[in-house]
Amino acid sequence: MCALEVKKEQLSSFTGKGYSIQPHEKHDRLYSIELEEQVIHQFLDEVKDISDEQLEYIPYQRLLVANTLLELTDEVFGHTIRRILNDRTSGGFTIGLQGITTDAQDYVKFSTALSHIAGIPNFDAMSKKYYARFSVKHTDDSDSYLRQAYRRFTLHTDGTYVDEPTDWLLMMKMEEENAVGGSSRLLHLDEWEDFDYFYNHALASHPFTYKAPASKNVSEDVHRKTFYTWNNQPCICFIDQFVYPETIRQAQYLKELSQSMENSTGIVELELPVGDLVMLNNRFWLHGRGGFEKNTELHRELLRQRGRFVQ
Ligand SMILES: [Fe+2]
Repeated sequence: MCALEVKKEQLSSFTGKGYSIQPHEKHDRLYSIELEEQVIHQFLDEVKDISDEQLEYIPYQRLLVANTLLELTDEVFGHTIRRILNDRTSGGFTIGLQGITTDAQDYVKFSTALSHIAGIPNFDAMSKKYYARFSVKHTDDSDSYLRQAYRRFTLHTDGTYVDEPTDWLLMMKMEEENAVGGSSRLLHLDEWEDFDYFYNHALASHPFTYKAPASKNVSEDVHRKTFYTWNNQPCICFIDQFVYPETIRQAQYLKELSQSMENSTGIVELELPVGDLVMLNNRFWLHGRGGFEKNTELHRELLRQRGRFVQ
């Protein structure tokens, strides 16, 4: 059974057992998946005795949490999630807990269920777990823009400096106080006006060196082409902070590429309520974050997972 027939112009809706899927109200390439409240209650109840520690120490426990959610829905739910993430027309969706819980442990379990329906998360060297939680506050002394509140975090893909596939990305909002601004900025590669110019440029397939800053706990350099093909479609790998050009011409190419994406009218700003998560295909979606308005009491905590599809 085929859950979704998608076209860019009009993503279609679908209702299954315990959930419904609609085109996102604000973003015509994203879906919004809504679980029925009773499914959320039952999921939380069935996983209530599983601790964060069990999830971190016992990998199979994570897949069993995913199975709990699958069993509360129908046989096409998991397939449909993977299909949306793989679908070039869309490649992303939001889903949330609808205020039914504000417990951080529940958020970890819910995001774990979704990530393990999609595939398997990569080890996150920054947190030394399969997921990472990180805060953005008024002050920051870190070595990358990840936690710096008042700067725009420019559009990028994740996993640039690790030597393993990063097919998808999950970001969940755990907490937020006194935050104005700081919305997610997302760009689907097919919405970028200048794509052809940069894709056909002589440096498009140059293998640039990527190095991680110390906080990421990754010591090996990797070489990555900015553009490559995956599933016969052009994809992108880029982040300005970790790429090391060796000539002025290369530096100019990277700067122009970044500026062009930042100025794209295809960028969508996503406001994510606490307890909601967004999952995106990391090969043809770029993500970043707008700057926050200054506030000494600013606090936001996000959870992230990045990983691969499993065949
Ligand atoms: Fe990122």
